[in-house]
Amino acid sequence: MLYLVGLGLFDEKDISLRGLGILKKSDRVYAEFYTNFSHASLKKLESLAGKKIVVLTRKDIEERPEENVLKDAGRKVISLLVSGDPMVATTHIDLVLRARKKGIKVKIIHASSVYSAVAETGLQIYKFGRTTSIVYPEKNYFPESPYDAIKENKKAGLHTLCLLDVKADEQRYMTVNEGIDVLLQIEAKRKQKVFTQETFCIGVARLGGDSVIMAGKAKELLKTAFGKPPQILIIPGKMHFMEEEALKTLSD
Ligand SMILES: C[S@@+](CC[C@H](N)C(=O)[O-])C[C@H]1O[C@@H](n2cnc3c(N)ncnc32)[C@H](O)[C@@H]1O
Repeated sequence: MLYLVGLGLFDEKDISLRGLGILKKSDRVYAEFYTNFSHASLKKLESLAGKKIVVLTRKDIEERPEENVLKDAGRKVISLLVSGDPMVATTHIDLVLRARKKGIKVKIIHASSVYSAVAETGLQIYKFGRTTSIVYPEKNYFPESPYDAIKENKKAGLHTLCLLDVKADEQRYMTVNEGIDVLLQIEAKRKQKVFTQETFCIGVARLGGDSVIMAGKAKELLKTAFGKPPQILIIPGKMHFMEEEALKTLSD
């Protein structure tokens, strides 16, 4: 049996009682921290679970799960801890499919996620359009897809949630400032006035913990310090007056 156990939004206190119960009865517990930055302490989690937790890398899970999470899951109880909700990360559905193909039963233990916590900004959850991810540009890799997502969502009056890059192996977690900078670089190339220095946006950090929510023009948020990860950037579409009022009240 393979359990994917959500760790929840912020730290080790966000795991559910159900999730904790599964960890306690597991023969082996693994964790991954490459899909998100978690403030959970491994030591505290190990003490709660009453056993050692083995941390896996992206390569371990995506390239050789048969050597770790899937290895004994046919006859033993194996758990994989994932920050936030385990299914709010495109990569883990692959693991579920691989397990099923091997005849291994899989159960998901859901947890709090950035996908619902984003409503803390006051924006209505059902008025978000396509989510996009802003990644650190590399020499031969500079995807402009976030720009297109914002453009399409804006056209439909919808808000855009921009998840920010996680490079766990390099200990690099994109900040709101860096996300804005990447979008402005794309704007400089595309020149369609989709995301300019004047664009109103919302920078958010550490939802579920010591959360920070700040709204303003891109050029203002560019200079605002948001502190530790994880962080997101939101570009609102057409805002209802209730959303505007909620945002004013709820932001810092
Ligand atoms: C690939 S997503 C994984 C989401 C996670 N599985 C969940 O359900 O919340 C990782 C990105 O979500 C955003 N994120 C996750 N948790 C967050 C939090 N508590 N506060 C702000 N942003 C968060 C960050 O942009 C981070 O880089």
